[in-house]
Amino acid sequence: MTLQAVEIKPAKGKLGILLVGLGAVSTTFVAGVEAAKKKLRTPIGSLTQLGHIRLGKRTENRNPLIKEFVPLADLNDLVYGAWDLFPDSGYEAAVKAGVIPRDLLDQIKDDLSALKPMEAIYDESYCRKLKSTHFKKIASKWDQAQALIADIENFKKANNCDRMTMIWCASTEAFNSLGDVHSSIAKFEQGLKNNDTAISPSMIYAYAALICRVGYANGAPNLTTDCPALLDLSQEMGVPVSGKDFKTGQTLVKTIIAPGLASRYIGISGWFSTNILGNRDGEVLDAPENFKTKEESKLSVLESVLQPELYPDLYGNLYHKVRIEYYPPRGDNKEGWDNIDLVGWLGMPMQLKINFLCRDSILAAPLVLDLVLFMDLAHRAGLKGIQEWLSFYYKAPMVKEGLTPIHDLARQEIKLMNTLRYLKGEDQITHLGLDYYTN
Ligand SMILES: NC(=O)c1ccc[n+]([C@@H]2O[C@H](COP(=O)([O-])OP(=O)(O)OC[C@H]3O[C@@H](n4cnc5c(N)ncnc54)[C@H](O)[C@@H]3O)[C@@H](O)[C@H]2O)c1
Repeated sequence: MTLQAVEIKPAKGKLGILLVGLGAVSTTFVAGVEAAKKKLRTPIGSLTQLGHIRLGKRTENRNPLIKEFVPLADLNDLVYGAWDLFPDSGYEAAVKAGVIPRDLLDQIKDDLSALKPMEAIYDESYCRKLKSTHFKKIASKWDQAQALIADIENFKKANNCDRMTMIWCASTEAFNSLGDVHSSIAKFEQGLKNNDTAISPSMIYAYAALICRVGYANGAPNLTTDCPALLDLSQEMGVPVSGKDFKTGQTLVKTIIAPGLASRYIGISGWFSTNILGNRDGEVLDAPENFKTKEESKLSVLESVLQPELYPDLYGNLYHKVRIEYYPPRGDNKEGWDNIDLVGWLGMPMQLKINFLCRDSILAAPLVLDLVLFMDLAHRAGLKGIQEWLSFYYKAPMVKEGLTPIHDLARQEIKLMNTLRYLKGEDQITHLGLDYYTN
């Protein structure tokens, strides 16, 4: 059966990448892209740059590169803009973050130095650990949104962009619950005019992006577009949104290991995860109100993978604990420990220990690249609202109300690949495979 491909506008001209936050993740992302363009480094970790996709039957041997299968923006067409609470250029911010080795940094110094952040939207109550001077001194949230809209339009003109996409790579905001002000576009806009404290800076950036018909991806666990007002706006403006919270490090490993244990019906009585992290992200997360946002995102994963309501004998009493400790000597080099208490045949206890010595921004940067390219693809393909197929990249995937998110990395990958096949009118791959034996 031949399926109808979705009409996708070509990826012509410049794609503006609007980075909210120019810290460790953003600068490592830009550095990696520029290093790849100069052929100084391979973009390891990026599915859009290295991945192949299987098409048709296994016997057909059709495995094109993803970037040749779907029309993605070329790395040479990316231009970057950013906002930050500090005026440091991309180069200065990268030096402070201390992630990129000096020899490479020297070779891409000009590219990073050219990236000068615009003044941020700052609300101390959402990020009390950072004291900023580089923010828009505008009291009204409505006027702040208008100033961001002007920034976006000016950036587009100055850089001759054909399209743009925005991604939140700024600090995790203090915990925020949804209220009446987030329930409709009209109430949200009135809330901006009333300076409602429940509207966080990230929501103002997202609102400005959506009004400008710019897609918005959320790399942190802040609620941001995960509220009726902004979801309605994304539908109304025909713009894709995705989130939340880049899936790197410990949660990445958790969503690889837990589904495997569950598919063997091995019980789990306890999962204790702890991390030490010494970068600015770790410093911000040292504040309990900011950690609470992160904790919610990290805790939701196991419940959805293990389904204790279906398997009370295996997971009904699971004790799950997640800690992050700020420990400056390690900088961006995170160390995570997981202790997993297992229960096997005859109820016998077993243990699994994982010690992951990772580099936070090294794991996150390729996700930023894939997300901005796929968000741009989604927009050109006419996909709007929540992009659940991008769950692959997130710890707390956004889904339509009433749906349970999928956390299992392997299933998320199948969903992503099948979405690409759908866009191009290729058969879905179900892995049934009986036809190899019956014909
Ligand atoms: N690195 C990872 O593995 C990973 C994984 C998941 C999520 N994240 C999230 O990604 C985000 C970025 O991480 P990072 O390591 O680059 O942090 P970072 O502290 O190095 O950079 C964040 C930057 O955001 C800026 N910022 C804060 N509030 C802002 C605002 N309102 N407007 C503009 N800029 C603002 C800060 O000044 C800082 O420079 C964090 O929220 C983090 O929790 C990172």
